[in-house]
Amino acid sequence: MGQTFDRIFENAIVVNHDGRAERDIGVTGGKIAFIGNLAQSDAGERVNCKGLHILPGVIDSQVHFREPGLEHKEDLQSGSLAAVMGGVTAVFEMPNTNPLTTNEAALADKVARATNRMHCDFAFWVGGTRENVDDLPELERLPGAAGIKVFMGSSTGDLLIEDDEGVAAVLSKTRRRAAFHSEDEFRLREREHLRIEDDPRSHPVWRDEVAALQCTERLVSIARKCGARIHVLHISTAEEMVFLQAHKDVASVEVTPHHLTLTADDYERLGTLIQMNPPVRDKRHKEGIWQGLDQGIVDVLGSDHAPHTLAEKQKPYPASPSGMTGVQTLVPMMLNHVRAGKLTLERFVDLTSAGPARLFQIANKGRIAAGYDADFTIVDLGRTETITNKWITSKCGWTPYDGVSVTGWPIGTVIRGKRVMWEGELIGGSNGAAVRFMEGL
Ligand code: DOR
Repeated sequence: MGQTFDRIFENAIVVNHDGRAERDIGVTGGKIAFIGNLAQSDAGERVNCKGLHILPGVIDSQVHFREPGLEHKEDLQSGSLAAVMGGVTAVFEMPNTNPLTTNEAALADKVARATNRMHCDFAFWVGGTRENVDDLPELERLPGAAGIKVFMGSSTGDLLIEDDEGVAAVLSKTRRRAAFHSEDEFRLREREHLRIEDDPRSHPVWRDEVAALQCTERLVSIARKCGARIHVLHISTAEEMVFLQAHKDVASVEVTPHHLTLTADDYERLGTLIQMNPPVRDKRHKEGIWQGLDQGIVDVLGSDHAPHTLAEKQKPYPASPSGMTGVQTLVPMMLNHVRAGKLTLERFVDLTSAGPARLFQIANKGRIAAGYDADFTIVDLGRTETITNKWITSKCGWTPYDGVSVTGWPIGTVIRGKRVMWEGELIGGSNGAAVRFMEGL
């Protein structure tokens, strides 16, 4: 191979759709140019990856970065810094900002704020509302749009379509896969009295498994009637996983690292820090979610990174807001699960790059293949580190995993051929660009 490359990543174990093997990757113009033995080739820079694994760049398809409007919690720059520090190369950000991302101008504003300011690549979910329903076919295909997101149960912010007619109106317009927060608002309202002042253990009692299952059943039935594709975010119950197994033709499934890691027993120790919607529940549900992951029912992992300041979280429940950080800890927490034998590294890759690329029809990402963007998450599977609040670069500066020791650590984040993070250091400027989707080309 006499070719000259901008950069060669050499001697790594490359993990890809064809398995894992020691290979070099040559990168030119931000794209993967060649995969194989490049010992005899020239390059502007050679990056020795001996002992490391190169994975396709991890895509986190659910984060809340709070800009515009709530920048005291996070902004697009700080959130994306947390992403690249944790080995994440692209994020899809949620519309519950202020103003809400529900029209063309708000989306264009986010894209403008993000371009060359975010450290990683990005797309933005557009909120579906009763007011913008007629505009959805146009909105979902705009540059930078990941698709349409609907909250069927209320959470942080004002986005809500709780009734079947409203959801059907949205799904009769969408052509791309629309994403849903699925908790039954009517049941949540009826059960509000079950919240116990200053006791976050009552959070999963209020927002119970029936609220989640009932809503997911309604949602799937509406999607079938409308002939629409749906993506059910952050599945939190064993029952939904069993139900969704029978509906994979219309529904794709996301799970979060926190629902795979934490249980209701952790409220005792971590209190409102792990208050999240939908809630962390008892062990039976965690096991049901792992079962769904084992069985291939789960398509993608999303962190649902939802930062709130510690001062906000320290308010007595239920005045405390729901949400926790997660974008920076997704890779290490999941690699630790790989180490523990809970999933294979190949399945992790399937969930974090191939999965999002397939569901959302991402152009040129999600796979280590010639012609694709050179986005890599480079990891040391044998490295043991302790996650600490100090390591968290998110503005709010905390993680529920403070003090947790993990084996498996992100060493490098490479985006379109450039090293953005290496050995915990940020390298270079912020070159974030909009993810492109085939449906928007
Ligand atoms: O716990 C949550 N927090 N769940 C959501 O759906 C929204 C998020 C937030 O934005 O804070």
